[in-house]
Amino acid sequence: MPGLSYIVQPVDVFLAAHWPDNAFYSAPRDERLQYFEGVQEFQSANSVIDVLRATYAVRKGGEGIVCSDDRELIKKLYQDGNTCSGALSSGIIPRLDELLEGIARDIGLTKSCMGTEVFLSQGESGVPMHSDWDINFSLLLRGKKTWKLAPNRHVVNQTRQIVPAPGMDAGTVVGGIASAGELPFEMPADCIEFHVSPGGVVFTPRGWWHQTTSEEE
Ligand SMILES: [Fe+2]
Repeated sequence: MPGLSYIVQPVDVFLAAHWPDNAFYSAPRDERLQYFEGVQEFQSANSVIDVLRATYAVRKGGEGIVCSDDRELIKKLYQDGNTCSGALSSGIIPRLDELLEGIARDIGLTKSCMGTEVFLSQGESGVPMHSDWDINFSLLLRGKKTWKLAPNRHVVNQTRQIVPAPGMDAGTVVGGIASAGELPFEMPADCIEFHVSPGGVVFTPRGWWHQTTSEEE
């Protein structure tokens, strides 16, 4: 059964120095792409959107979020250049379920801790700076994606997503144990930057600030 070695290489370096608190980049590997070859749902953007459990679109330029179960609307927003996203339920793609089970086993978690989200965009798109409560492995299947990441020095044990804005004080943020002081609302100049091509993986620890820009599909 595939597991952690599928998603990160080298595994010993990842476990010793990165999991769960430090960002990690794993260079592209063809076997990651081959694993999903033939999965009907990943053949096109529309075929993925058709099986997403809940769908939302991040408007181009970070102008807000549209949440909708209307898949035709999401397909149109995708065509218009917005970044679209949604969760995949277990049971939809057996290969994915098997992979999640293997990763959970190798990390020492239960599969119930794991979930899958798919992000889709075409042309130039991206997701503005934010931090998430969960831990993420992001595998790029197509296109090119640039990641910027930086540790979060204001909020720990985060419990919900935080999208910072100018003047937002960390002490007023709901969703984690926050220190006082103004939150950063732009990625710091010394942030980590990864340029990812198909088959590459980025590991984002809980709470880390991150921002992405994408090209192509
Ligand atoms: Fe995120």
